Amino acid sequence: MLVYGLILLIGAQLGFNGRAAQNATLGKLVKIEKSRKELSAYYQSGKPKLLLFKPGIVHISIERDSAALKSFAVIESPENLTGHKVKATGRKMGMDLPDGTIEFMPGSMKLSFKDANGKEVLDLEDILFSDSGVVARFDIHGARNFYGLGEKTLPYNKYGSRCTMWNTDFPAYPLTYDPLYESIPFLLKADPKGAYGLFFDNPSRASFDIGATDSNTLAYSASKGAFQLYIVTGKNPAQVVERFSQLTGKMNMPPRWALGYQQSRWSYYPEQTVLNLAHGFRERSIPCDVIYLDINYMDGYRCFTWSPKDFPTPKLMLDTLHDLGFKVVTIIDPGIKADSSYGVYESGLKKGAFVREPSGKYFVGDVWPGACVFPDFLNKKAREWWGNQYKPLLAAGVDGMWNDMNEPSVFNTPNKTFPLNVMEKTGNGEKVTHAEVHNVYGMQMARATREGLERLEPDKRPFVLTRSNYAGGQRYSAMWTGDNVSSYAHLKLALTMFLNIGVSGQPFVGSDVGGFVGNPSPELFSRWLELGVFTPFYRTHSTWGSKPREPWAFGAKYTKLNREIIDRRYELLPEIYTAFRNAHLDGLPIVRPLYIDYPYDKEAYKLSDEFLFGDRMLVAPVLDSAAVDKDVYLPGKKWLSFYNGTELDRGWHKVEAPLGHTPVFVKDGTILFTQSVVQSTSEQADTLVLRVYAAGASADGKAYFDDGETYAYRHGDYLMLNAVCELKNARGTLLFNPEGRYVPRYKYVTVRIYPGSVKYLSRFAGKTAMLRVAGGKMLSAPVIRSGENAVEFTFPFSPEISSISF
Ligand code: GLC
Repeated sequence: MLVYGLILLIGAQLGFNGRAAQNATLGKLVKIEKSRKELSAYYQSGKPKLLLFKPGIVHISIERDSAALKSFAVIESPENLTGHKVKATGRKMGMDLPDGTIEFMPGSMKLSFKDANGKEVLDLEDILFSDSGVVARFDIHGARNFYGLGEKTLPYNKYGSRCTMWNTDFPAYPLTYDPLYESIPFLLKADPKGAYGLFFDNPSRASFDIGATDSNTLAYSASKGAFQLYIVTGKNPAQVVERFSQLTGKMNMPPRWALGYQQSRWSYYPEQTVLNLAHGFRERSIPCDVIYLDINYMDGYRCFTWSPKDFPTPKLMLDTLHDLGFKVVTIIDPGIKADSSYGVYESGLKKGAFVREPSGKYFVGDVWPGACVFPDFLNKKAREWWGNQYKPLLAAGVDGMWNDMNEPSVFNTPNKTFPLNVMEKTGNGEKVTHAEVHNVYGMQMARATREGLERLEPDKRPFVLTRSNYAGGQRYSAMWTGDNVSSYAHLKLALTMFLNIGVSGQPFVGSDVGGFVGNPSPELFSRWLELGVFTPFYRTHSTWGSKPREPWAFGAKYTKLNREIIDRRYELLPEIYTAFRNAHLDGLPIVRPLYIDYPYDKEAYKLSDEFLFGDRMLVAPVLDSAAVDKDVYLPGKKWLSFYNGTELDRGWHKVEAPLGHTPVFVKDGTILFTQSVVQSTSEQADTLVLRVYAAGASADGKAYFDDGETYAYRHGDYLMLNAVCELKNARGTLLFNPEGRYVPRYKYVTVRIYPGSVKYLSRFAGKTAMLRVAGGKMLSAPVIRSGENAVEFTFPFSPEISSISF
């Protein structure tokens, strides 16, 4: 068949001249059809099609023999677009886009993408079909910055790398190991000249060679199925990522508790150990929201059961944990023990819910419980059945679900997953082999889980965590980066992964704090906790037999330090919640590379050891052993220290970063919303703290609030609190403009102003601030106190206050 490929190339040179166009693998060109947004070339046994999908997104699909699988990633349907030109002449088919043009030559199957200035940025040089799949090679026209591709080791910039898309369980993965648990075949080219995204939507084994073999060539191959490519254009990287996330969907708003600190290990058991853990947090006043139960809570690793010996009274335990302000997340793996006395197995058999070998027998493979069968998550009926299995866990009071081993991982097959000929049924009832759909198994498990929880508890926002995933999986679950290692190198890798996973459309991501395998030094653990404060999913987790990893397990000095670090997460919660809300709406990452906001800054493309948290905070975590300072690059204009308002200009700075202190900077002109520390999100913080960073004499900001657990926000039960502050001639004003009707239950508000320069402080200190409601009526007049770098005043919270002058 390789020979066929070569023939194709030779055939390709002939081009389409309106008469005898012929393609070696696809046969004769029969006709070309053109509509307002679609161009199709019909060959005897294949159909290349170009479709203007959405503004700025073109879909190129080349089906051979049979129709392509329905996408698991793409949720949008093609839009009815107007104002875009579709042209087809004898030799060329073309489309004008807002940010460039795309031309396709059906005879030679060449495709060319030019930017808005008419400059060539990407050419599909050749595409070869054979029995081993399809290979496409692109000329990248000198591009050298590539990001995305989901969870990958490899250098931060993927240029010069080769990698594979094949979801794989690999515990204690080495720093260069590939592939891992998740596959997102979305490659983002981004540099100061421009950006585009290539989404190769095919869940079979696929590979990328990004200038590794030939410096100017990107080679993509997929082992099965049709060639499916979305070219996502945009005026900058942010717009490309936004458009990609419109295509594949946004993260849903999680419950607020899922943003708190979370404690896990393999495993906390029995019940009393779990209760002691909960008391341990509360006694030491270390905030924590969630405790995880790993596989030992089950009866012989049978999913959806409780160990009668170790968890005899789960409901009672959960009630106590809830009273203490904890939520509980339980692990659920796909492997269902093949045991005729086990109800879940029996009911799945009745529903025909498990995947089968070609002979029709159920496929049986070993995971934790021994011999298991595996649900066919691609199939709607199986997903529904699966979703209903969560009933008993919910009845006991479990709050969230953790889906693991869903690559799927199988211990006793040669390829450590399903044999490639295992049959699965897609939503349409179409039968496919595992080889065609391997990379979506985990994502479809998370989907089945989420859809089940939504059905069973329709008023609650579900929390699902998954290890394996595919593009679009952000719609169903948060993800973590699997079985990493306790080392500084892995701490660095975690951040590199977050940045690339984020631009691959998945904002809700985290790593096992401290490293899953191994035992971190006290210092490494604290540094990892520090990074965790600014990580969307913040969970400590460790393997079987690891040393205790609770925040107080490292001695008194570190207990204090770790408490202060976790306290910071809770102080920042209003900002973090707002960042989630923004990501839910625009699909941009929460932990984001500098180039998203500073696309014209060359440095921004190099840095993977600092990041923007949302668009107003820059975080430069310490990722090296024994470091006491850090070189930090600040893009744009002026920044102020989060902690004390010290001003710093654009450029490189060496800043202090002793253990426990993460350098964090706030963009000048920002009002951040923080709060007083609570022990969990179930507790209402007393004080909302507005931190006004106003070296340039003005600042604004907004914070989002809602009930944190239901969908009432969709019906107007939310608050977007917009605030603007101006300082002028020793006077200041702060104006509030609320949207929505939700009223947070804070008792007080503190306004802390960092005017940048100390000389301004004395102008305000000692004066009073006048609080007014709409209409001008004065409420109260707190006295302004002066601190070292800031002035501040505190007053009782009232949703009525519309302006403050001072
Ligand atoms: C896998 C998971 C890990 C979990 C363990 C036991 O290794 O990645 O997080 O603790 O299985 O369930």
